[in-house]
Amino acid sequence: MRRKLAAGNWKMNGTRPALAELSKLQTPENIDVLICPPATLVAQAAETQTVAIGGQDCHAAQSGAHTGDISADMLADAGASYVITGHSERRTDHGESDSTIAAKSTAAWDSGLVAVICIGETLAERESGKTLEVIATQLAGSVPDGATGENTVIAYEPVWAIGTGLVPELVQIAEVHDFIRSELTARFGADIAGAIRLLYGGSVKPSNASEIFATSNVDGALVGGASLKADDFNGIIEALA
Ligand code: G3P
Repeated sequence: MRRKLAAGNWKMNGTRPALAELSKLQTPENIDVLICPPATLVAQAAETQTVAIGGQDCHAAQSGAHTGDISADMLADAGASYVITGHSERRTDHGESDSTIAAKSTAAWDSGLVAVICIGETLAERESGKTLEVIATQLAGSVPDGATGENTVIAYEPVWAIGTGLVPELVQIAEVHDFIRSELTARFGADIAGAIRLLYGGSVKPSNASEIFATSNVDGALVGGASLKADDFNGIIEALA
């Protein structure tokens, strides 16, 4: 059985007072709860909070002349247990390629972190019928050999659903999640593929969480805006637990 995961990505939001929201989060025993705050808050959050803490990105190298970057080792040292890799905002804002994301994910594993590897199509790609092709390419290129249920979570985030209030039809979410599971099965075998958690991300709210979580092969969510306030995220946690 895959353990459900409610993950929050605060993106570039939150200073120290925001940690008070973390203290209000529910932590049901039957699911995992993860918050990925800005890097400036990782250490303090990990020291003071009961939820799992993750980074939002890491460098592919563990140290060196990379001004402004943070390594997976540093995140682990700060108390993180997960790191997001390949978020579409990193792919767009920083030109990250699938191979870069695979290298970052390997670095995450080397540091003992779980990599939450993000994939998803743009609106233009969906409208031109290329969704599954894009997903297959990103999966093949971004997920390194050696992925397991312990070291990897895959987050399907349609770019056009992020922060827009738009959510795919449930059948569209099911189609992509079933496809991801079958692609993973073809590559890693049924046992490993069956243990890798698949999250949906993109405008998840307390009001739509239950139906999304009831969808085929959805093991939880990666939540942006609705993870910033404990009341909202608790609604999502309750829907999953
Ligand atoms: O990583 C989570 C994110 O991209 C989804 O954001 O605000 O649509 O929940 P949001």
